[in-house]
Amino acid sequence: MSTSGIVYRPRRLRTTPRMRRLVAEHRLHPGDLVLPLFVKEGIDEPVAISSMPGQVQHTEATLHDAVAAAARAGLGGVMLFGIPSVRDALGTQAAAPEGILQRGTRIAREAVAAVEAERPGGRPGPVVMVDTCLDEFTDHGHCGVLASDGTVDNDLTLDRYAAMAVAQARAGAEVVAPSGMMDGQVAMIRDALDDAGFESVSILAYSAKYASAFYGPFREAVDSALQGDRRTYQMDAANAREGLREADLDIAEGADMVMVKPAGSSLDVLRGVADRSDVPVAAYQVSGEYAMIEAAAANGWIDRRSAVLESVLAIKRAGADVILTYWAQEIAAWLERPS
Ligand code: PBG
Repeated sequence: MSTSGIVYRPRRLRTTPRMRRLVAEHRLHPGDLVLPLFVKEGIDEPVAISSMPGQVQHTEATLHDAVAAAARAGLGGVMLFGIPSVRDALGTQAAAPEGILQRGTRIAREAVAAVEAERPGGRPGPVVMVDTCLDEFTDHGHCGVLASDGTVDNDLTLDRYAAMAVAQARAGAEVVAPSGMMDGQVAMIRDALDDAGFESVSILAYSAKYASAFYGPFREAVDSALQGDRRTYQMDAANAREGLREADLDIAEGADMVMVKPAGSSLDVLRGVADRSDVPVAAYQVSGEYAMIEAAAANGWIDRRSAVLESVLAIKRAGADVILTYWAQEIAAWLERPS
């Protein structure tokens, strides 16, 4: 026993930046990050999303540039969302060969290929992932087809998802990401992809997806038509075990990766899924999490960069292998040039 009586001094490992870097249990890497991107049909200039400062609805041309920038930054992936100019009850444009999301997918693949061709053997470009859900394409804004009583019809919706996933695969999607929380959606999509010859296209399942107020700004981002909420299909924030069950079911149905969302308010579920699953686990830091930090930083109430990095590191620490974040591009730049 020393004279002070203190045997263990954890502060020793916090003395200098060198020491702290050496003993860091987790660190961020651009290759773990996925940048969500919005592409809108029929616009000539990008449209700013006011509730998500710094984020835009892209034109096809600026989508190309954004994906190329993501490739140069070494991001792990991009996740595409489309905003069509025509909507209907069935979300027909979601599966149209020339629908905006299919066009966007082809553009994203071209952008990745172009950047990779600049430096053969250099670092790989981002994996092109595509949202597989009807809410941007339906005139009522729900994630599925409505039954006559106005509820979302699970099984009718599955057929639409299957068609959508196949259209996305045809356009070059490497990962389809069903986010509609319909029961059986992963199995249905896997079957459809396999039948169409797309055995190599992966499924990233939004498994534990909560009905969340933190999706608020996203509704502006996709010009959502939704009235009401999604509580009959997305999960209740009161439930944690149910999130684990949802992930188990999706893995049993053939999901290659599972996702927990929103990340920041579901870190317990994220940890639980990471501990029990042996597939890669993704977490989505959603629009509202982005907006809150941006708004507080704009007011000078928090330090923007440290808050962003801390929020994303916490998601990593909770067990995420892959993190979807609107700050992906900026974080990659910070990691490249730490100051
Ligand atoms: C559904 C979908 C949503 C988000 C991703 N996919 C909206 C919703 O479920 O209401 C939200 C993402 C975010 O808020 O950043 N296609």
